[in-house]
Amino acid sequence: MSDKGKTTGSDKPKGKGRADTGLKVKVKTARGRTASSVRWLQRQLNDPYVVKARKEGWRSRAAFKLIEIDEKYHLLKPGNRVVDLGAAPGGWCQVAAKKTGSTPGNPLIVGIDYLEMDGVPGVALLQKDFLDEDAPAALMAALGGHAPDVVLSDMAAPTTGHHKTDHLRTTHLCEVAAAFAVDVLRPGGAFVAKVFRGGTENELLAMLKQNFAQVFHFKPPSSRQESVEMYVVARGFKGRQEAAEDGRP
Ligand SMILES: C[S@@+](CC[C@H](N)C(=O)[O-])C[C@H]1O[C@@H](n2cnc3c(N)ncnc32)[C@H](O)[C@@H]1O
Repeated sequence: MSDKGKTTGSDKPKGKGRADTGLKVKVKTARGRTASSVRWLQRQLNDPYVVKARKEGWRSRAAFKLIEIDEKYHLLKPGNRVVDLGAAPGGWCQVAAKKTGSTPGNPLIVGIDYLEMDGVPGVALLQKDFLDEDAPAALMAALGGHAPDVVLSDMAAPTTGHHKTDHLRTTHLCEVAAAFAVDVLRPGGAFVAKVFRGGTENELLAMLKQNFAQVFHFKPPSSRQESVEMYVVARGFKGRQEAAEDGRP
């Protein structure tokens, strides 16, 4: 068998000027493993947030993004009701349940994803496409009809590799999430959503500014630098009446 392309733990960067990648774990190529899957595995194994998430019992490294957003903007309070859009595998649900004190006896969090995911204590889960017409009603029913304090969306469309298409699809998810938030939030509530670099599209940004007292863009330190994602954070929902008086149609 040829060793061509094979990397091992003992491999050292060769040649002057070659950057030290800082990698601790190198992944061997193997039959059936593509170059991109080797890169992905290598990145996972060497990502301090992946290691930390595993150690601390978070379902995903994404949990740290919500922790960092909340440390900066103080959105999740004990007793809050929260909707988590695009919840799988459940890191944000875990963080939200912990911060709000949600319990299986009195669940305050509802998560939705079209992917199957393991249950999270204190979280009602819907396996469903959020873009389905009946999804908003199903989410509200799961919250017992109570208006949420916070709507979170970490939804991302599966990437096609075509930047413009990926951008448009994720922007669409963000727009639908924002419209849902404005329809259901209690006054004073908050909305967080993943957007692509460049921030929120003008029309959506104007809509958020009209409906919320404050709107920010934030890239949490745990979000990979090379990733185009960032988050829009809108705080202080004005309420449907007040926003309407502000000129909303
Ligand atoms: C980045 S992951 C979310 C990670 C999650 N915040 C966590 O902490 O584990 C994005 C999720 O959005 C979900 N998603 C994308 N579009 C969706 C849609 N239309 N309806 C429901 N879920 C969707 C994907 O299935 C995926 O699980």
